[in-house]
Amino acid sequence: MKQMIKNISDFVDEEITLKGWLYNKRSSGGIVFLEIRDGSGFVQAVVRKDDVDEETWEAAEDLTQESSLEISGEVSQHPKKEDVYELQVSNIDIIQLVEEEYPISLKEHGPDFLLQNRHLWLRDPKQWAVLKIRDTIVRGIREYLDQNDFTLTDSPIFTPNACEDTTELFEVDYLDDDTAYLSQSGQLYLEAAIMSVGRAYDFGPVFRAEKSTTKRHLTEFWMMDAEAAFVEHEENMDIQEEITKHIIRKCLDECGKAFDILDRDTSKLKDVVENDFIRLTYKETVEKLQDMGSDIEYGEDFGNDDEAMLTKDTKVPVFIERWPKDLKPFYMKLDGDFVLNNDMIATEAGGEIFGGSEREDDYDKLVGRIEEEGLNKENYDWYLDLRKYGSVPHSGFGIGLERVVRWVSGVEHVRETIPFPRLVNRIRP
Ligand code: 4AD
Ligand code: MG
Repeated sequence: MKQMIKNISDFVDEEITLKGWLYNKRSSGGIVFLEIRDGSGFVQAVVRKDDVDEETWEAAEDLTQESSLEISGEVSQHPKKEDVYELQVSNIDIIQLVEEEYPISLKEHGPDFLLQNRHLWLRDPKQWAVLKIRDTIVRGIREYLDQNDFTLTDSPIFTPNACEDTTELFEVDYLDDDTAYLSQSGQLYLEAAIMSVGRAYDFGPVFRAEKSTTKRHLTEFWMMDAEAAFVEHEENMDIQEEITKHIIRKCLDECGKAFDILDRDTSKLKDVVENDFIRLTYKETVEKLQDMGSDIEYGEDFGNDDEAMLTKDTKVPVFIERWPKDLKPFYMKLDGDFVLNNDMIATEAGGEIFGGSEREDDYDKLVGRIEEEGLNKENYDWYLDLRKYGSVPHSGFGIGLERVVRWVSGVEHVRETIPFPRLVNRIRP
Protein backbone atom coordinates (compact mmCIF):
# COMPACT_ATOMS: atom_id res chain seq x y z
CA MET A 1 0.00 0.00 0.00
CA LYS A 2 1.39 3.39 -0.99
CA GLN A 3 1.93 6.00 1.70
CA MET A 4 -0.72 8.46 0.58
CA ILE A 5 -3.47 10.29 2.40
CA LYS A 6 -6.19 8.27 0.69
CA ASN A 7 -4.72 5.09 2.23
CA ILE A 8 -4.05 6.59 5.65
CA SER A 9 -6.45 4.33 7.56
CA ASP A 10 -4.19 1.39 6.68
CA PHE A 11 -1.29 2.92 8.59
CA VAL A 12 -2.73 3.57 12.05
CA ASP A 13 0.08 3.48 14.68
CA GLU A 14 2.70 3.34 11.91
CA GLU A 15 5.19 5.97 10.81
CA ILE A 16 4.63 7.27 7.26
CA THR A 17 6.06 9.98 5.01
CA LEU A 18 3.85 12.16 2.84
CA LYS A 19 4.88 14.55 0.08
CA GLY A 20 2.57 17.44 -0.56
CA TRP A 21 1.58 21.02 0.14
CA LEU A 22 0.47 23.06 3.10
CA TYR A 23 -3.13 24.07 2.67
CA ASN A 24 -3.78 25.80 5.99
CA LYS A 25 -2.17 26.30 9.38
CA ARG A 26 -3.21 27.14 12.94
CA SER A 27 -1.11 27.41 16.09
CA SER A 28 -1.94 27.32 19.73
CA GLY A 29 0.74 27.45 22.37
CA GLY A 30 3.32 24.78 21.73
CA ILE A 31 1.27 23.08 18.99
CA VAL A 32 1.00 23.80 15.27
CA PHE A 33 -1.79 22.21 13.23
CA LEU A 34 -0.91 21.83 9.57
CA GLU A 35 -3.48 20.93 6.96
CA ILE A 36 -1.66 18.95 4.35
CA ARG A 37 -2.83 17.83 0.92
CA ASP A 38 -0.99 15.36 -1.26
CA GLY A 39 -3.25 15.07 -4.29
CA SER A 40 -5.04 12.02 -2.92
CA GLY A 41 -6.71 13.79 -0.01
CA PHE A 42 -6.41 16.11 2.97
CA VAL A 43 -5.11 15.41 6.47
CA GLN A 44 -4.32 17.37 9.61
CA ALA A 45 -0.74 17.03 10.87
CA VAL A 46 -0.03 17.92 14.50
CA VAL A 47 3.40 19.28 15.46
CA ARG A 48 4.20 19.43 19.18
CA LYS A 49 7.17 21.53 20.19
CA ASP A 50 8.14 19.05 22.88
CA ASP A 51 8.15 16.07 20.55
CA VAL A 52 10.25 17.34 17.63
CA ASP A 53 13.77 18.65 17.12
CA GLU A 54 14.40 22.35 16.75
CA GLU A 55 14.67 22.29 12.95
CA THR A 56 11.29 20.65 12.51
CA TRP A 57 9.67 23.05 14.96
CA GLU A 58 11.13 26.02 13.09
CA ALA A 59 9.96 24.57 9.80
CA ALA A 60 6.43 24.24 11.18
CA GLU A 61 6.54 27.86 12.33
CA ASP A 62 7.95 29.13 9.03
CA LEU A 63 5.67 27.23 6.68
CA THR A 64 3.44 29.45 4.55
CA GLN A 65 0.31 28.58 2.59
CA GLU A 66 1.04 26.34 -0.42
CA SER A 67 4.67 25.67 0.54
CA SER A 68 5.69 22.18 -0.58
CA LEU A 69 7.05 19.73 1.92
CA GLU A 70 7.91 16.21 2.95
CA ILE A 71 6.41 15.34 6.30
CA SER A 72 6.72 12.24 8.49
CA GLY A 73 4.90 11.06 11.55
CA GLU A 74 2.76 8.41 13.17
CA VAL A 75 -0.83 7.99 12.05
CA SER A 76 -3.46 8.16 14.76
CA GLN A 77 -7.22 8.00 14.76
CA HIS A 78 -8.95 11.30 15.51
CA PRO A 79 -9.92 11.33 19.22
CA LYS A 80 -13.56 12.22 18.48
CA LYS A 81 -14.35 11.62 14.83
CA GLU A 82 -14.54 8.14 13.41
CA ASP A 83 -13.04 7.80 9.93
CA VAL A 84 -10.78 10.83 10.47
CA TYR A 85 -7.04 10.36 10.95
CA GLU A 86 -4.18 12.62 11.92
CA LEU A 87 -0.45 12.63 11.58
CA GLN A 88 1.59 13.10 14.78
CA VAL A 89 4.58 14.78 13.20
CA SER A 90 8.16 13.69 13.83
CA ASN A 91 9.93 15.43 10.95
CA ILE A 92 9.37 18.13 8.30
CA ASP A 93 11.56 18.90 5.29
CA ILE A 94 10.48 21.97 3.36
CA ILE A 95 10.84 21.47 -0.41
CA GLN A 96 9.97 25.05 -1.36
CA LEU A 97 9.02 27.76 1.07
CA VAL A 98 6.50 30.13 -0.55
CA GLU A 99 7.92 33.62 0.00
CA GLU A 100 5.17 35.71 -1.57
CA GLU A 101 1.66 35.75 -0.25
CA TYR A 102 -0.42 33.10 -2.04
CA PRO A 103 -3.02 34.94 -4.16
CA ILE A 104 -5.94 32.76 -3.14
CA SER A 105 -6.24 33.23 0.60
CA LEU A 106 -8.74 31.21 2.57
CA LYS A 107 -11.35 33.94 2.56
CA GLU A 108 -14.06 34.29 -0.10
CA HIS A 109 -13.10 35.51 -3.57
CA GLY A 110 -15.33 36.50 -6.49
CA PRO A 111 -15.71 34.20 -9.51
CA ASP A 112 -13.77 36.52 -11.86
CA PHE A 113 -10.72 36.54 -9.65
CA LEU A 114 -10.91 32.78 -9.17
CA LEU A 115 -11.25 32.15 -12.91
CA GLN A 116 -8.27 34.39 -13.64
CA ASN A 117 -6.35 32.29 -11.16
CA ARG A 118 -7.77 28.98 -12.29
CA HIS A 119 -4.25 27.49 -12.41
CA LEU A 120 -4.09 28.00 -8.62
CA TRP A 121 -7.79 27.71 -7.80
CA LEU A 122 -7.63 24.04 -8.89
CA ARG A 123 -5.89 23.28 -5.58
CA ASP A 124 -8.93 24.29 -3.54
CA PRO A 125 -10.60 21.29 -1.84
CA LYS A 126 -13.91 21.86 -3.63
CA GLN A 127 -12.17 22.04 -6.99
CA TRP A 128 -10.19 18.93 -6.09
CA ALA A 129 -13.46 17.17 -5.26
CA VAL A 130 -15.00 18.11 -8.62
CA LEU A 131 -11.90 16.91 -10.51
CA LYS A 132 -12.11 13.56 -8.71
CA ILE A 133 -15.81 13.21 -9.52
CA ARG A 134 -15.13 14.10 -13.16
CA ASP A 135 -12.47 11.41 -13.35
CA THR A 136 -14.81 8.86 -11.80
CA ILE A 137 -17.60 9.73 -14.24
CA VAL A 138 -15.25 9.32 -17.19
CA ARG A 139 -14.12 5.94 -15.90
CA GLY A 140 -17.75 4.96 -15.31
CA ILE A 141 -18.70 5.83 -18.87
CA ARG A 142 -15.78 3.88 -20.32
CA GLU A 143 -16.41 0.93 -18.04
CA TYR A 144 -20.04 0.64 -19.11
CA LEU A 145 -19.17 0.93 -22.79
CA ASP A 146 -16.35 -1.62 -22.48
CA GLN A 147 -18.68 -4.09 -20.80
CA ASN A 148 -21.29 -3.59 -23.51
CA ASP A 149 -19.20 -4.19 -26.62
CA PHE A 150 -18.58 -0.60 -27.71
CA THR A 151 -15.23 -0.04 -29.43
CA LEU A 152 -13.34 3.21 -28.89
CA THR A 153 -13.15 4.88 -32.32
CA ASP A 154 -11.77 8.40 -32.15
CA SER A 155 -13.26 11.09 -34.38
CA PRO A 156 -11.44 14.00 -36.00
CA ILE A 157 -11.61 17.54 -34.67
CA PHE A 158 -10.96 19.32 -38.00
CA THR A 159 -14.08 18.64 -40.04
CA PRO A 160 -15.35 19.81 -43.44
CA ASN A 161 -19.01 20.02 -42.42
CA ALA A 162 -21.44 20.66 -39.56
CA CYS A 163 -22.93 17.95 -37.39
CA GLU A 164 -25.22 20.20 -35.38
CA ASP A 165 -26.43 23.79 -35.81
CA THR A 166 -24.41 25.51 -38.57
CA THR A 167 -24.62 28.85 -36.77
CA GLU A 168 -22.49 27.47 -33.94
CA LEU A 169 -19.42 26.48 -35.93
CA PHE A 170 -15.90 27.62 -35.18
CA GLU A 171 -14.17 28.22 -38.50
CA VAL A 172 -10.41 27.82 -38.91
CA ASP A 173 -8.05 28.35 -41.84
CA TYR A 174 -6.88 24.96 -42.87
CA LEU A 175 -3.42 25.39 -44.42
CA ASP A 176 -3.44 26.77 -47.98
CA ASP A 177 -6.93 27.51 -49.09
CA ASP A 178 -9.36 25.32 -47.27
CA THR A 179 -11.73 26.15 -44.47
CA ALA A 180 -12.23 23.65 -41.70
CA TYR A 181 -14.62 23.64 -38.77
CA LEU A 182 -13.92 22.45 -35.27
CA SER A 183 -16.05 19.40 -34.54
CA GLN A 184 -19.34 19.87 -32.71
CA SER A 185 -19.78 16.11 -32.20
CA GLY A 186 -18.12 13.02 -33.65
CA GLN A 187 -21.45 11.37 -34.30
CA LEU A 188 -21.39 11.30 -38.10
CA TYR A 189 -17.98 9.60 -38.07
CA LEU A 190 -19.18 7.05 -35.55
CA GLU A 191 -22.02 6.16 -37.90
CA ALA A 192 -19.33 5.13 -40.39
CA ALA A 193 -17.35 3.26 -37.73
CA ILE A 194 -20.26 1.09 -36.52
CA MET A 195 -20.57 -0.40 -39.99
CA SER A 196 -17.18 -1.91 -39.18
CA VAL A 197 -17.23 -2.61 -35.42
CA GLY A 198 -20.98 -2.74 -34.68
CA ARG A 199 -20.91 -0.45 -31.65
CA ALA A 200 -18.55 2.48 -31.28
CA TYR A 201 -17.85 5.46 -29.07
CA ASP A 202 -15.60 8.47 -29.06
CA PHE A 203 -14.64 10.77 -26.30
CA GLY A 204 -13.01 14.13 -26.81
CA PRO A 205 -13.34 17.89 -26.88
CA VAL A 206 -15.98 19.48 -29.09
CA PHE A 207 -16.59 23.12 -29.90
CA ARG A 208 -19.65 25.34 -30.16
CA ALA A 209 -19.52 29.01 -31.00
CA GLU A 210 -22.56 29.65 -28.84
CA LYS A 211 -22.74 33.10 -27.34
CA SER A 212 -24.65 31.71 -24.37
CA THR A 213 -23.65 32.87 -20.93
CA THR A 214 -25.77 30.38 -19.01
CA LYS A 215 -24.47 28.16 -16.24
CA ARG A 216 -24.54 25.23 -18.65
CA HIS A 217 -22.67 26.46 -21.70
CA LEU A 218 -19.01 26.19 -22.58
CA THR A 219 -17.50 26.89 -25.98
CA GLU A 220 -15.20 23.88 -25.60
CA PHE A 221 -16.56 20.84 -23.78
CA TRP A 222 -16.06 17.09 -23.66
CA MET A 223 -18.52 14.86 -25.39
CA MET A 224 -18.85 11.12 -25.37
CA ASP A 225 -20.74 10.02 -28.46
CA ALA A 226 -21.95 6.42 -28.59
CA GLU A 227 -23.46 4.73 -31.63
CA ALA A 228 -24.82 1.20 -32.18
CA ALA A 229 -25.94 -0.74 -35.24
CA PHE A 230 -29.27 -2.59 -35.05
CA VAL A 231 -30.41 -0.54 -32.05
CA GLU A 232 -33.71 1.30 -32.42
CA HIS A 233 -35.15 4.25 -30.54
CA GLU A 234 -36.54 2.50 -27.41
CA GLU A 235 -33.42 0.45 -26.83
CA ASN A 236 -31.31 3.58 -27.37
CA MET A 237 -33.07 5.13 -24.38
CA ASP A 238 -32.60 1.92 -22.35
CA ILE A 239 -28.85 2.17 -22.95
CA GLN A 240 -28.80 5.83 -21.88
CA GLU A 241 -30.69 4.98 -18.70
CA GLU A 242 -28.33 2.12 -17.86
CA ILE A 243 -25.18 4.12 -18.47
CA THR A 244 -26.49 6.96 -16.29
CA LYS A 245 -27.22 4.54 -13.44
CA HIS A 246 -23.81 2.94 -13.87
CA ILE A 247 -22.10 6.34 -13.60
CA ILE A 248 -24.04 7.33 -10.48
CA ARG A 249 -23.49 3.97 -8.77
CA LYS A 250 -19.77 4.26 -9.35
CA CYS A 251 -19.66 7.81 -7.96
CA LEU A 252 -21.65 6.75 -4.89
CA ASP A 253 -19.16 3.89 -4.37
CA GLU A 254 -15.96 5.84 -4.93
CA CYS A 255 -16.52 9.54 -4.27
CA GLY A 256 -17.62 9.66 -0.63
CA LYS A 257 -14.88 12.08 0.42
CA ALA A 258 -15.48 14.35 -2.54
CA PHE A 259 -19.23 14.45 -1.87
CA ASP A 260 -18.53 15.32 1.78
CA ILE A 261 -16.28 18.21 0.78
CA LEU A 262 -19.00 19.50 -1.55
CA ASP A 263 -21.78 18.96 1.00
CA ARG A 264 -23.64 16.99 -1.64
CA ASP A 265 -26.93 15.40 -0.58
CA THR A 266 -26.38 11.95 -2.11
CA SER A 267 -29.84 10.63 -1.22
CA LYS A 268 -31.08 12.33 -4.39
CA LEU A 269 -28.54 10.38 -6.42
CA LYS A 270 -29.57 7.11 -4.77
CA ASP A 271 -33.15 7.74 -5.95
CA VAL A 272 -31.88 7.95 -9.51
CA VAL A 273 -30.34 4.47 -9.48
CA GLU A 274 -33.27 2.84 -7.73
CA ASN A 275 -36.13 3.92 -10.02
CA ASP A 276 -37.13 3.76 -13.69
CA PHE A 277 -36.62 6.97 -15.64
CA ILE A 278 -39.69 8.80 -16.91
CA ARG A 279 -40.40 8.91 -20.66
CA LEU A 280 -42.63 11.65 -22.08
CA THR A 281 -43.18 12.69 -25.67
CA TYR A 282 -42.46 16.27 -26.67
CA LYS A 283 -46.22 16.87 -26.87
CA GLU A 284 -46.90 15.40 -23.42
CA THR A 285 -44.06 17.48 -22.00
CA VAL A 286 -45.47 20.73 -23.40
CA GLU A 287 -48.90 19.89 -21.95
CA LYS A 288 -47.46 18.95 -18.60
CA LEU A 289 -45.42 22.16 -18.39
CA GLN A 290 -48.42 24.26 -19.38
CA ASP A 291 -50.37 22.59 -16.56
CA MET A 292 -47.56 23.45 -14.20
CA GLY A 293 -47.77 27.12 -15.19
CA SER A 294 -45.12 27.47 -17.91
CA ASP A 295 -45.88 29.74 -20.87
CA ILE A 296 -44.23 27.32 -23.32
CA GLU A 297 -46.06 26.96 -26.64
CA TYR A 298 -46.20 23.88 -28.83
CA GLY A 299 -43.38 24.15 -31.38
CA GLU A 300 -40.92 25.91 -29.12
CA ASP A 301 -37.74 24.53 -27.60
CA PHE A 302 -37.61 24.27 -23.81
CA GLY A 303 -35.77 26.88 -21.78
CA ASN A 304 -33.74 26.31 -18.62
CA ASP A 305 -36.73 27.15 -16.47
CA ASP A 306 -38.95 24.66 -18.26
CA GLU A 307 -36.37 21.91 -17.84
CA ALA A 308 -35.98 22.70 -14.16
CA MET A 309 -39.75 22.74 -13.66
CA LEU A 310 -40.15 19.40 -15.43
CA THR A 311 -37.98 17.46 -12.96
CA LYS A 312 -38.71 19.59 -9.90
CA ASP A 313 -40.69 16.81 -8.21
CA THR A 314 -39.31 13.74 -9.96
CA LYS A 315 -36.84 11.32 -8.40
CA VAL A 316 -35.42 10.46 -11.78
CA PRO A 317 -34.37 12.10 -15.04
CA VAL A 318 -37.00 12.56 -17.74
CA PHE A 319 -36.58 11.56 -21.38
CA ILE A 320 -38.34 13.98 -23.71
CA GLU A 321 -38.81 11.95 -26.88
CA ARG A 322 -40.33 12.31 -30.36
CA TRP A 323 -39.84 15.99 -31.09
CA PRO A 324 -41.29 17.86 -34.09
CA LYS A 325 -38.71 17.45 -36.85
CA ASP A 326 -38.28 21.20 -37.35
CA LEU A 327 -36.69 21.55 -33.92
CA LYS A 328 -34.00 18.94 -34.50
CA PRO A 329 -31.08 18.19 -36.87
CA PHE A 330 -31.31 16.53 -40.27
CA TYR A 331 -29.91 13.13 -39.31
CA MET A 332 -32.70 12.02 -36.96
CA LYS A 333 -35.03 9.27 -38.18
CA LEU A 334 -38.40 10.54 -39.31
CA ASP A 335 -41.69 9.27 -37.97
CA GLY A 336 -44.30 11.38 -39.76
CA ASP A 337 -43.70 14.97 -38.71
CA PHE A 338 -41.72 13.84 -35.70
CA VAL A 339 -38.28 12.37 -35.15
CA LEU A 340 -37.32 9.33 -33.06
CA ASN A 341 -35.10 11.18 -30.65
CA ASN A 342 -34.68 12.08 -27.02
CA ASP A 343 -33.17 14.65 -24.74
CA MET A 344 -32.49 13.47 -21.21
CA ILE A 345 -33.28 16.05 -18.53
CA ALA A 346 -31.57 15.60 -15.19
CA THR A 347 -33.13 16.06 -11.76
CA GLU A 348 -32.29 18.96 -9.43
CA ALA A 349 -32.31 21.53 -12.24
CA GLY A 350 -29.49 19.65 -13.97
CA GLY A 351 -31.07 20.38 -17.37
CA GLU A 352 -30.32 18.50 -20.60
CA ILE A 353 -27.39 16.16 -20.07
CA PHE A 354 -27.78 13.72 -22.98
CA GLY A 355 -29.13 14.03 -26.51
CA GLY A 356 -29.78 11.01 -28.72
CA SER A 357 -31.80 9.56 -31.59
CA GLU A 358 -32.34 6.80 -34.03
CA ARG A 359 -30.68 7.91 -37.28
CA GLU A 360 -32.37 8.23 -40.67
CA ASP A 361 -31.21 5.10 -42.53
CA ASP A 362 -33.12 5.68 -45.77
CA TYR A 363 -31.08 7.34 -48.51
CA ASP A 364 -33.89 9.35 -50.11
CA LYS A 365 -35.38 10.61 -46.87
CA LEU A 366 -31.97 11.68 -45.66
CA VAL A 367 -31.29 13.61 -48.87
CA GLY A 368 -34.70 15.24 -48.42
CA ARG A 369 -33.81 16.37 -44.92
CA ILE A 370 -30.39 17.70 -45.98
CA GLU A 371 -32.06 19.76 -48.71
CA GLU A 372 -34.85 20.94 -46.42
CA GLU A 373 -32.28 22.25 -43.97
CA GLY A 374 -30.44 24.10 -46.76
CA LEU A 375 -27.25 22.11 -46.22
CA ASN A 376 -24.81 21.48 -49.05
CA LYS A 377 -25.38 17.87 -50.14
CA GLU A 378 -21.86 17.52 -51.56
CA ASN A 379 -20.39 17.96 -48.09
CA TYR A 380 -22.36 14.94 -46.93
CA ASP A 381 -21.55 12.59 -49.82
CA TRP A 382 -19.47 10.32 -47.66
CA TYR A 383 -22.22 10.23 -45.01
CA LEU A 384 -24.82 9.38 -47.65
CA ASP A 385 -22.65 6.47 -48.84
CA LEU A 386 -23.42 4.79 -45.51
CA ARG A 387 -27.07 4.56 -46.66
CA LYS A 388 -26.04 3.00 -49.97
CA TYR A 389 -23.85 0.19 -48.74
CA GLY A 390 -25.54 -2.05 -46.19
CA SER A 391 -27.71 0.52 -44.42
CA VAL A 392 -29.16 -0.74 -41.12
CA PRO A 393 -31.29 0.70 -38.34
CA HIS A 394 -28.97 2.39 -35.86
CA SER A 395 -29.04 4.83 -32.99
CA GLY A 396 -26.77 6.77 -30.72
CA PHE A 397 -26.45 9.53 -28.20
CA GLY A 398 -24.05 12.13 -26.88
CA ILE A 399 -23.18 12.77 -23.25
CA GLY A 400 -22.15 16.30 -22.33
CA LEU A 401 -19.51 15.45 -19.73
CA GLU A 402 -19.48 18.79 -17.93
CA ARG A 403 -23.26 18.83 -17.66
CA VAL A 404 -23.13 15.42 -16.01
CA VAL A 405 -20.32 16.48 -13.66
CA ARG A 406 -22.31 19.57 -12.72
CA TRP A 407 -25.38 17.51 -11.96
CA VAL A 408 -23.61 14.79 -9.98
CA SER A 409 -21.33 17.10 -8.00
CA GLY A 410 -24.03 19.69 -7.41
CA VAL A 411 -21.84 22.69 -8.31
CA GLU A 412 -23.73 25.55 -9.81
CA HIS A 413 -21.79 26.40 -12.94
CA VAL A 414 -20.15 24.22 -15.61
CA ARG A 415 -17.08 26.45 -15.45
CA GLU A 416 -16.09 24.53 -12.30
CA THR A 417 -16.48 21.13 -13.90
CA ILE A 418 -13.66 21.32 -16.46
CA PRO A 419 -10.03 22.00 -15.47
CA PHE A 420 -9.62 25.04 -17.72
CA PRO A 421 -13.01 26.36 -18.88
CA ARG A 422 -13.44 28.06 -22.25
CA LEU A 423 -16.35 30.48 -22.05
CA VAL A 424 -17.74 33.11 -24.40
CA ASN A 425 -15.52 35.75 -22.82
CA ARG A 426 -12.67 33.70 -21.39
CA ILE A 427 -9.82 31.64 -22.83
CA ARG A 428 -7.20 32.32 -20.14
CA PRO A 429 -5.28 30.83 -18.39
O1 4AD B 1 -27.64 17.61 -27.90
P1 4AD B 1 -26.33 17.72 -28.61
O2 4AD B 1 -26.12 18.93 -29.44
O3 4AD B 1 -26.20 16.39 -29.44
C1 4AD B 1 -25.22 16.12 -30.35
O4 4AD B 1 -24.26 16.78 -30.59
C2 4AD B 1 -25.35 14.73 -30.96
N1 4AD B 1 -24.60 14.73 -32.24
C3 4AD B 1 -24.82 13.71 -30.01
C4 4AD B 1 -24.97 12.31 -30.48
O5 4AD B 1 -26.08 11.88 -30.73
N2 4AD B 1 -23.90 11.57 -30.61
O6 4AD B 1 -25.15 17.63 -27.54
C5 4AD B 1 -25.05 16.53 -26.66
C6 4AD B 1 -24.88 17.00 -25.25
C7 4AD B 1 -26.04 17.80 -24.71
O7 4AD B 1 -27.07 16.98 -24.25
C8 4AD B 1 -25.37 18.57 -23.59
O8 4AD B 1 -25.25 17.75 -22.43
C9 4AD B 1 -23.98 18.82 -24.11
O9 4AD B 1 -23.76 17.89 -25.16
N3 4AD B 1 -23.81 20.19 -24.61
C10 4AD B 1 -23.07 21.14 -24.01
N4 4AD B 1 -22.33 21.12 -22.87
C11 4AD B 1 -21.67 22.25 -22.52
N5 4AD B 1 -21.66 23.37 -23.25
C12 4AD B 1 -22.39 23.45 -24.41
N6 4AD B 1 -22.35 24.55 -25.14
C13 4AD B 1 -23.12 22.30 -24.83
N7 4AD B 1 -23.90 22.01 -25.90
C14 4AD B 1 -24.30 20.73 -25.73
MG1 MG C 1 -29.37 18.65 -27.46
